[in-house]
Amino acid sequence: MTAITKICCIGAGYVGGPTMAMIAKKCPHIEVTVVDLNEQRIAAWNDVDVTNIPVYEPGLSDVVAEARGRNLFFSTDVESAIAAAQMIFISVNTPTKTYGSGKGQAADLKWIELCARQIARVANDNKIIVEKSTLPVRTASAIKDILTHTGNGSQFQILSNPEFLAEGTAVEDLDAPDRVLIGGDNTPEGRVAVQALVDVYANWIPRERILTTNVWSSELSKLTANAFLAQRVSSINSLTELCEKTEADINEVARAIGTDSRIGPKFLKASVGFGGSCFQKDILNLVYIARSYGLSEVADYWEQVIIMNDHQKRRFANQIIKNLYNTVNGKKITFLGWAFKKDTNDTRESAAIYVADHLLHEQAEIAVYDPKVIKNQIYADLNYLQTRKEEENRKGVEVIEDPYKACEGAHAIAILTEWDEFKSYDWQRIYDSMLKPAKIFDGRNLLDADKLKSIGFQVRSIGG
Ligand code: UDX
Ligand code: ADP
Repeated sequence: MTAITKICCIGAGYVGGPTMAMIAKKCPHIEVTVVDLNEQRIAAWNDVDVTNIPVYEPGLSDVVAEARGRNLFFSTDVESAIAAAQMIFISVNTPTKTYGSGKGQAADLKWIELCARQIARVANDNKIIVEKSTLPVRTASAIKDILTHTGNGSQFQILSNPEFLAEGTAVEDLDAPDRVLIGGDNTPEGRVAVQALVDVYANWIPRERILTTNVWSSELSKLTANAFLAQRVSSINSLTELCEKTEADINEVARAIGTDSRIGPKFLKASVGFGGSCFQKDILNLVYIARSYGLSEVADYWEQVIIMNDHQKRRFANQIIKNLYNTVNGKKITFLGWAFKKDTNDTRESAAIYVADHLLHEQAEIAVYDPKVIKNQIYADLNYLQTRKEEENRKGVEVIEDPYKACEGAHAIAILTEWDEFKSYDWQRIYDSMLKPAKIFDGRNLLDADKLKSIGFQVRSIGG
């Protein structure tokens, strides 16, 4: 196969957008077209003001500004882009099923299947298909099945190329990844396809960091990496409860164990619980696959990571209630942060959603301030749970664009996201405007508790 000069990516979301922008930046000789059915999203990627792109990531606007219009294009014309490309990345959403068999566990592959069928219909020459979305193991074989049976004789090679970027640091992760993983068939055609993708990444990534495996290993490695990371968070979070009952302090424990080079210091930050589009979904996929092969001990083992995470979120909400004299009815509680982590506007599976839902059941009045998340997203997240009427969510939650206003008259503040700006607020001013006793529940162990206590706040940290 000749070198790749035209790439199409289906799905202009948190994965497709940044990844393609980086490929376009690093490979000016390759024309990269990102397509999406969502016209509004594509219009935002094409906004003349590059700071209005729909994914907030530090440094991403500059990458887009450099390549857009040169060799990076965003379009809703899915079919033309598929027809023109030699290599097609599939980067569409694969949420956990909300209905039917596998509900709440298996990934919904509806969108992936639609993509495969569309490619089969439109393609009139050989193509390399790259799975970029987070997918359960065996998806490649499903895609292959559809392409080889409904196509017009064109040859397709399916590669798995999982994305390991973390939101908030997407640009640095794409620029200098720990590794790139490419899985392909161990056949002559499969090896040629793998090499073609290796050559794309080799434009900026050292060859020894580009790992190649078979398709199954690649798909399973993605789930495993996320399961291990999530497990570390649940492991440290499981100990916060023990710390709170004893004299131990979770930050000291994390520091002490993190200096063991076999354990390492990363992903040991205690929190209100992990969120994001990947951790829970990938573990649920792992659990589902294990169960479908009758491996109940394996399934139960990994499921415990999710059970612990749900417990942590509920525990945080219950602590607020207990501490406010067992009732939050009619009390204003201010959430600082709604995103699932700092430096992103993504809210998928954010702990804030579940903590808010729990407090709304107890009839609290919630005020939310987040530096990047827009109002409608916050309501959409709560409505998605379908636990109460949309009007009731609107009534119970007020989204306020000024953090000081958000805290005025509050009984308590809960820190849900570790945004840096929260650390430099004028906490005396906030204290003065709140009801007393003024309480802070720091779900991220972000703030300087001693300093806050000296102002007069009552502070509860996680695992403190
Ligand atoms: C994750 C993986 O890191 C990435 O490799 C994969 O491609 C996608 O899933 P992401 O979900 O963007 O990335 O964020 P990550 O930094 O992993 O954080 C996930 C969640 O865990 C966040 O809610 C974060 O706040 C929480 N977390 C992380 C902790 O609570 N404590 C920690 O020590 C680390
Ligand atoms: P991720 O975090 O995996 O990138 P997102 O939900 O942010 O997930 O993005 C996935 C994108 O894929 C959405 O913008 C959605 O509109 C798009 N999409 C889903 N199915 C198709 C399809 N068949 N053709 C084009 N775009 C699609």
